[in-house]
Amino acid sequence: MPPIATILATAVIIIVINTRLGECGHSSTTGASTPIASPSTSCALGNGFQSYQTVNETSTETWPYQVFKSSPFQPPSLDITRNGQPLAPGLLIFSPWQIPGDDAAKESAPLIMTDDGQLVWNGENNITFNLRVATYQNASILTFWTGILNPDPYFGFGYGNVTFLDTSYNKILTVCPQLGLVTPDGVTHQCEADLHESYVADRGTLLVTAYNVTQADLSSIGGPADGWIGNSLFYELDPKDGKVLFQWSAIDHVPINETKNPLAGRGLNQSAAFDLFHINSVVNIGTDGYLIGSRHLWTTYLLNATGDIEWVLQGDTGGDFGALPENGKFTSPGNTTSAPPPPETPTTPPPSKSHPPIVLDHLSDPTDPTDPLSAGSQGSVDLLPNNNFLMGYGLDPVIKEYGPAGTGNDVRWSARYGADGRVQSYRSFKSEWHGKPTSKPSLVVVPPVANATTGCTTGYVSWNGATDVEGWKVSAGDSAGKLVGVGEVRYAGFETGFVVGGRCVQVSAVVSGREQRGGRSDVVCL
Ligand SMILES: *[C@@H]1O[C@H](CO)[C@@H](O)[C@H](O)[C@H]1NC(C)=O
Ligand SMILES: *[C@@H]1O[C@H](CO)[C@@H](O)[C@H](O)[C@H]1NC(C)=O
Ligand SMILES: *[C@@H]1O[C@H](CO)[C@@H](O)[C@H](O)[C@H]1NC(C)=O
Ligand SMILES: *[C@@H]1O[C@H](CO)[C@@H](O)[C@H](O)[C@H]1NC(C)=O
Ligand SMILES: *[C@@H]1O[C@H](CO)[C@@H](O)[C@H](O)[C@H]1NC(C)=O
Ligand SMILES: *[C@@H]1O[C@H](CO)[C@@H](O)[C@H](O)[C@H]1NC(C)=O
Ligand SMILES: *[C@@H]1O[C@H](CO)[C@@H](O)[C@H](O)[C@H]1NC(C)=O
Ligand SMILES: *[C@@H]1O[C@H](CO)[C@@H](O)[C@H](O)[C@H]1NC(C)=O
Ligand SMILES: *[C@@H]1O[C@H](CO)[C@@H](O)[C@H](O)[C@H]1NC(C)=O
Ligand SMILES: *[C@@H]1O[C@H](CO)[C@@H](O)[C@H](O)[C@H]1NC(C)=O
Repeated sequence: MPPIATILATAVIIIVINTRLGECGHSSTTGASTPIASPSTSCALGNGFQSYQTVNETSTETWPYQVFKSSPFQPPSLDITRNGQPLAPGLLIFSPWQIPGDDAAKESAPLIMTDDGQLVWNGENNITFNLRVATYQNASILTFWTGILNPDPYFGFGYGNVTFLDTSYNKILTVCPQLGLVTPDGVTHQCEADLHESYVADRGTLLVTAYNVTQADLSSIGGPADGWIGNSLFYELDPKDGKVLFQWSAIDHVPINETKNPLAGRGLNQSAAFDLFHINSVVNIGTDGYLIGSRHLWTTYLLNATGDIEWVLQGDTGGDFGALPENGKFTSPGNTTSAPPPPETPTTPPPSKSHPPIVLDHLSDPTDPTDPLSAGSQGSVDLLPNNNFLMGYGLDPVIKEYGPAGTGNDVRWSARYGADGRVQSYRSFKSEWHGKPTSKPSLVVVPPVANATTGCTTGYVSWNGATDVEGWKVSAGDSAGKLVGVGEVRYAGFETGFVVGGRCVQVSAVVSGREQRGGRSDVVCL
């Protein structure tokens, strides 16, 4: 991606006339309404100030959240700790959600935030999984899944769409896979991508997981010969039209008796189908095949391009590679404190049977003595550009950035954004992202308080999704047609507040020292 600076417009130039005479010339201490200072009689513009407020509702169980005057968003307030060691560059990219109807959070929405806890972008308030930065047609995009969760909580999967947003947050594609799936409750869904994976492959295709209820012989695990399972599938699709390019089915490749999930009375009928494999993740390995992760077999598989298993890395036995080192073992969550490593950053070249995988690093949260956590589901770990690791704790609404050693005594940054099990984010990332919204900045102005000593107006501006704003040029005047430039305030966070004279105000975003085309607010008058 070119830096935003290279796509700047050069057309808009406002002549800045600094006519400030002194500190807030008008004053009134008695009247009910304070006369509004005119721009020329000056209210010192000064620096911008960060203006969000944190709300902590003591009468509810809602996690503290941020509110703004110029935007309606209510993202969580991050409870951040740091150890002072260097962090990786980038923005936090995550998608907190809660069970519909719960009041543990104000939103279930895709979020981009800074590691200082400042909001950058708040997407629509819909349950979202797997918000992440991807590359599509040589450009950075955001992708995420939205849809509905399967009503039976035994099956933590969903049916929905995958959305692609460009750097202006415009929807460039909504992929609605129509796969003709059989569901546990017999209900059919318009769009059938499962929530576990939505991965843009480097060849421009989209990999998604799906669940299909089907019959299977469960006698090898003590169930009926005519039993029912939720079979794990994955698809490679052309995102432009949803056309299926490749399809893979777990029971066509994996013996049923290898599941580690106890049958526990499931599998007797369609609505009580058994979760045999539970696919978590799929990535492609160039054009050579796919790496996939199974929760219930505690296994990562390398598949070749036609879907045949090339090797098996099993968390207990080591699969094709023999005994695993003690700190290389993994199981499904709930069995031990470790989770299967999701194949987010496949090694290049992938391990072959003659080149077994090796344990590069060992991230084990219980070794964080100040905050041991063991999440029961979801989560992710990602290697960052400076060799730090970012770990998302899924069911536990916590993200931690570890130093390169990945050890619990070097947790460099940690943030909590909700109560355990009530607010969750399937995965969490830290990525470079430069956003330039097509929507205008949002500006509100408020009059001086009734008995204020000055007649200054206060402005508040936010621009949802803008990443590289350095400051705001402010114009003000006694009427909409008579605005004059009064200076520039420093960008102070998602919402920047400033003090100005005049009834009418307009602001314009400054990026790389220049006003940004499309970055001008409406003229807003008291
Ligand atoms: C929010 O308020 C509750 C109840 O007063 C308090 O226990 C909690 O520490 C507060 N949380 C934050 C983050 O301020
Ligand atoms: C989010 O929810 C709104 C309201 O239900 C809906 O109109 C919109 O299409 C949803 N967005 C996505 C990306 O699913
Ligand atoms: C992406 O960039 C490469 C190298 O510049 C070019 O060959 C290719 O055509 C581009 N692809 C698209 C979809 O723009
Ligand atoms: C997917 O998007 C379509 C519109 O493109 C919408 O009609 C449908 O409701 C969405 N489905 C889900 C499950 O979000
Ligand atoms: C889904 O399962 C049904 C049987 O329940 C089967 O007929 C159908 O082929 C399966 N679909 C896929 C895509 O595997
Ligand atoms: C699964 O069944 C096959 C064939 O009966 C058998 O060879 C294999 O050892 C069994 N595997 C497990 C894990 O029980
Ligand atoms: C399916 O089996 C479960 C027991 O596993 C039972 O509770 C349920 O009533 C059965 N549903 C139907 C439709 O037979
Ligand atoms: C994948 O492996 C199977 C079994 O070894 C083989 O028949 C098939 O040709 C392989 N596919 C590719 C694309 O190499
Ligand atoms: C945990 O793993 C062990 C070893 O494979 C197994 O015997 C046990 O049943 C598992 N426990 C649970 C709760 O899944
Ligand atoms: C402004 O008015 C409020 C409410 O009437 C009062 O409490 C406050 O003391 C006044 N402030 C000044 C500076 O007069």
